[in-house]
Formats: sequence, C-alpha cells, structure tokens
Amino acid sequence: MSSDPADLTLPADLAAEIDAARAEIDAAALDGPDAAEAFRVRFLGRKSGALTDLFARMGTVPPETRRALGQALNALKARAEERLDEARQVATSTAARTDLDLTLPGRALPVEEAGGLHPLTQALRDIERIFRAYGFDVATGPEIETDWHNFTALGFPEEHPARDMQDTFFLEPPLPEGRGVLLRTHTSPVQIRVMEGRRPPFRVIVPGRVFRNEAISYKSFCLFHQVEGLVVDETASMADLQGLLRTFARAFFGREMKLRFRPSYFPFTEPSAEVDVWWADETKPGGGRWMEILGCGMVDPVVLENVGVDPERYTGYAFGMGAERLAMLRHDIADIRLFYENDVRFLQQF
Ligand code: DAH
Repeated sequence: MSSDPADLTLPADLAAEIDAARAEIDAAALDGPDAAEAFRVRFLGRKSGALTDLFARMGTVPPETRRALGQALNALKARAEERLDEARQVATSTAARTDLDLTLPGRALPVEEAGGLHPLTQALRDIERIFRAYGFDVATGPEIETDWHNFTALGFPEEHPARDMQDTFFLEPPLPEGRGVLLRTHTSPVQIRVMEGRRPPFRVIVPGRVFRNEAISYKSFCLFHQVEGLVVDETASMADLQGLLRTFARAFFGREMKLRFRPSYFPFTEPSAEVDVWWADETKPGGGRWMEILGCGMVDPVVLENVGVDPERYTGYAFGMGAERLAMLRHDIADIRLFYENDVRFLQQF
C-alpha cells in the first residue's frame, strides 16, 4: 500500500494496520479446507472479520481521506478474495496437491478402531487352547438336534420333568419314541455323537451354541455357548476330573482359584456335581460369593451302553461349562445381554 500515493493521506496507524493485514493475507498458508475456512472467517467474516472492522473505520477518518481509505480497503478485500478462491481450488482438486504420494503405505489404525476379538470369542479360544494343551481333541455337532441325542440317549426319561429342566425350542413336537427335532439345549448330545463315531480311549471338548426358551434377563439369554468335555478310558475317575478342572480354572483365570464341588443331579452322570468358583469381593475383607461355572460328573454307565461302549471296561467323566459365565467372571461383566448387542462402547473395552 505504501507504494500508492493515496496512502500518504491515511492516518499512520490505519496505514500500518492495512499493511499488516496485507502482509498477513499474502503470507497465510492455505493448505486445506480448514485453513481456507479459518482464513475466510478471519478476514472476510461478516461479523468480526478484519476487513469488516477496517471498513467500519470509514466513518472515523476525515472526509478527504475516505476515498483513499475506500480504495485501499477494496484492494485489500479483492486480494483476500483472490487468495480464498485459490485456496478453495487447491482444496477441491487433489490433483494439484504436490504432497500426495500414492505409493505411501496406509496408516495402521489403532486396535480399538480396527476391531478386535469379541470377549466371548476370546474366552472360547482360551478354553480351547488350554484343553488342547491337555491333549483334548475339539469336536462339534449340529445345533439342530434330535430329541433322541439331546435327551433320550442322555438318560432323560420320556415325559419326565427332567426334560423341563431345559426350556426347549422344539422344531417338531417330540414323539413318544423320542423322535422329533429341536434346537439343542446343551452341548451334551455331542457326547453321544462322539461316542457313536469313535472308540475309547479319547478326550474331547465340544464348544458350541445352545438355545433355551427362557425369560431373558441379565443372567439368561435365549442362546449362549457351552464347552462340553468328555473323557472315556479305562481309568477315568472323579479325582482326575477334579484335578483337571482345578488346573483349567487356574489357567483360564490366570491365578489360583478356590473351587467347590457341590453334589448335584444330571440324568447322564452319576455321581454329578456342580462346580462353583469363589469370587472374592475386593471391597469387603473376606467378602465374596460362590459362582457356578459348570456341571460335571462320571458318565452314567447307561449312557455308555446306549452307544455300545462296554461300561465294565470303560469309565468316563464329562463336564459342561458356560462360556458366557466364564467371560462375565473374568471381565466383571454384569449382564449377559451385552455379549449380543454389538455396542461398540462395550466391545472396545476388550
Ligand atoms: N449339559 C448340562 C447343562 O446344560 C451341563 C453338564 C452337566 C454337562 C454335567 C456335562 C455334565 O457334561 O457331565 O446343564
């Protein structure tokens, strides 16, 4: 501006301000849409832009300098608009970006953004890894199961209330002879399928989805996961079973766990037990409670007979654990439904 003779008539402080604004406009680094917008607001904004402020000063200068001031400000405004246009063009045309290197490798997203394994999948994989290390094979079976495998072969008497222990989704009404089709209510029918397919000795686990027509709440959902275990050989004993489950609990939770074997009843094991772990309440000295994690027992000789295994020669033990229950304990999750809602605020925590 100082090169323009008209400037000379402007008050020195105003001339200096105009010069400073001009220098700033020329020097502004307009390297993206955000910078362009900030520039627009700073200089051309209606309410508080620098040029609006300068134009407002028109009334404060003597009438004879108004013309010169008007010219100087119009030139400044034109320059600012020119730079803004230029910036917007650069922002919209990536081809003009000389810093764009298409050969650069992509940026790795942090794990929370890129995704991770569902806490239930983590628990199931850990369970599988631990039992594989103990020499177990992994078997699977169908989710749509026959009444015979799910109930009859496991010693659930026909028309017996034991069948109601597990609220069943029947796909076809069960027939008196034990035929009919249903969504399996536990992974125990795979014990039958395994024994139909192979001869002892063996040790298998069976992870899988099971279904129950239950009232949905923080602790029950219409589907959940179990991991069944079955060991059949000439020496399987309740003592082995206890040792195995204690060792498993230590491996799964990563520390020594207090376990309680509580006598119970299942139609396919004799004797039967339910296993609880002691869940200490850190906030109260000595406080805590027993939490059930699985059912187990010695395979009932009748079940072995049902699949043609000689109960005089072989004994077996079995267990069935709830995967959600184990994952809930491990991570202090209070509501089973969280596993099935796919809420990223929940999933991101694992
Ligand atoms: N299937 C049983 C349930 O869902 C759990 C169970 C109990 C499995 C004892 C077993 C067992 O293998 O031996 O309630």
